[in-house]
Amino acid sequence: MSTELKKPENCLIVIFGASGDLTKRKLMPALFELFCDNMLPEQFVVLGTSSSKLSDDEFREHIRSALSVKTPDPENSIDKFLKKLYYISADFKDPLRYEEIKKRMYELGGCCGNSCNYIYYLATVPELFGTIALNLGNVNLSDQSNGFSRIVVEKPFGHDLGSAVELNKTIQSVFKEDQIYRIDHYLGKETVQNVLVTRFANGIFEPIWNRNYVHHVEVTSAETLGVENRGAYYERSGALLDMIQSHLLRVAALVAMEPPSSFDSDAVRNEQLKVLQSLRPIRFEEVNESAVRGQYISSKIKGKTVKGYREENNVNPNSRTETYAALKFYIDNWRWGGVPFYIRTGKMMPTQVTEAVIHFKKTPHYLFSKAGETNSRNSLILRIQPDEGIVLKFGMKEPGSGYKVQNVNMDFHYKDLSNLHIPEAYERLLYDSMVGDSTLFLRADAVEAAWRFIDPIEKAWKESHDIKIYGYPAGTWGPEAADSLIEGDYQTWRYPCKNLAEDGVYCEL
Ligand code: BG6
Repeated sequence: MSTELKKPENCLIVIFGASGDLTKRKLMPALFELFCDNMLPEQFVVLGTSSSKLSDDEFREHIRSALSVKTPDPENSIDKFLKKLYYISADFKDPLRYEEIKKRMYELGGCCGNSCNYIYYLATVPELFGTIALNLGNVNLSDQSNGFSRIVVEKPFGHDLGSAVELNKTIQSVFKEDQIYRIDHYLGKETVQNVLVTRFANGIFEPIWNRNYVHHVEVTSAETLGVENRGAYYERSGALLDMIQSHLLRVAALVAMEPPSSFDSDAVRNEQLKVLQSLRPIRFEEVNESAVRGQYISSKIKGKTVKGYREENNVNPNSRTETYAALKFYIDNWRWGGVPFYIRTGKMMPTQVTEAVIHFKKTPHYLFSKAGETNSRNSLILRIQPDEGIVLKFGMKEPGSGYKVQNVNMDFHYKDLSNLHIPEAYERLLYDSMVGDSTLFLRADAVEAAWRFIDPIEKAWKESHDIKIYGYPAGTWGPEAADSLIEGDYQTWRYPCKNLAEDGVYCEL
């Protein structure tokens, strides 16, 4: 992972799925931000492709509405950026169309100077990932004899272990592993990367970052929105695959990994892999006691009736797809032996928040309060979003007679680093794919290790009708049954607020 930002070499990016939502909402605004920050190559072209019939200008106009400038723009940056975009329509299943794409790339390739550096960004439905890779191979577009050729693959990468292994094999039959960039946009988040800096740039945390001092670790990602217009996708996915398999296991791996020997891409990814390989499997018959699933049901939020999941568009009225998932698991290694890890995620929760919390053990002896009171617990909250920052919670003496201990916060907010632009995840990841830094992308072995852990849970939830799916009213913190996962030794889930330093059960409602 580079510490200094350099301008990438000239390159051409082909975006498959260019008329889709992801391209418009995420990829183009991220490329535009890089353009405004002068972080795109000197000569840079995007060739968008999808099945829609659009001219170059129609494509540019389609993208224009997604771009905005924060300050007056005498340079007309939006127009300048749009001039770099071109378009070709294609049926991605038609092998002949790839010759046309190649021809268009070569015509535009003049922009790349002497070398031809290509990035293929797969932002299509996942069923097409393998087909596109094979077709690119058929017209020799994976060749690197005259520049680099990289393929960026969106999530979901497979829908279970078997399909992920298959997809890896297919793509690797055309591209070498170091040409493949599997995206997890969580790893592109500034604050997720900051977990590594917090841990490995400070001497004070390492000695206590282990089973001797840590009581449990909690990772939460709560969203206030429901599935919106993504019912059809979500029905096939559910919270476990949509958030835990893809994003939150990676966050847990960053919290849990050993210090890498260097910040070299493979050194970092080797350590993450070891964590994923050390996850204690939750066997089919153990799923009931280690995992809880839920689905939001209709309720009133601020006096307004909101739909339940089963009433959403393109959702089966008898759906058993979970919109909430909570897991308890262990990492079987020397650092974490016996320390429970808890992960939960849900749609339609009271507040939007993503954080990882390290809960430390109590003092060995209570001098100031009775056993059973919680005020001698310390925790370190790594807030990923919103109000990005860090809070250390610890006990202080309340002023006055006696020794009453009160929990207080010591907090750092990213926004206090004023003037610093926090790049969007896609900005960072697109930039890294251009400079060839794969540290924040997933390696084949890590993807497979994550699926190996998730598969039995997903299978049990799909196949066993004895495992309940609990309804929870939209706007609440999920099914009560999830409390039983974390209960014991008077611990409970945290009920975080949008503001990092506040806690509360229903702070947003
Ligand atoms: C996506 C999921 O990968 O991540 C969505 O498909 C989810 O369902 C989103 O809402 C959350 O990302 P972020 O960056 O908004 O936390």
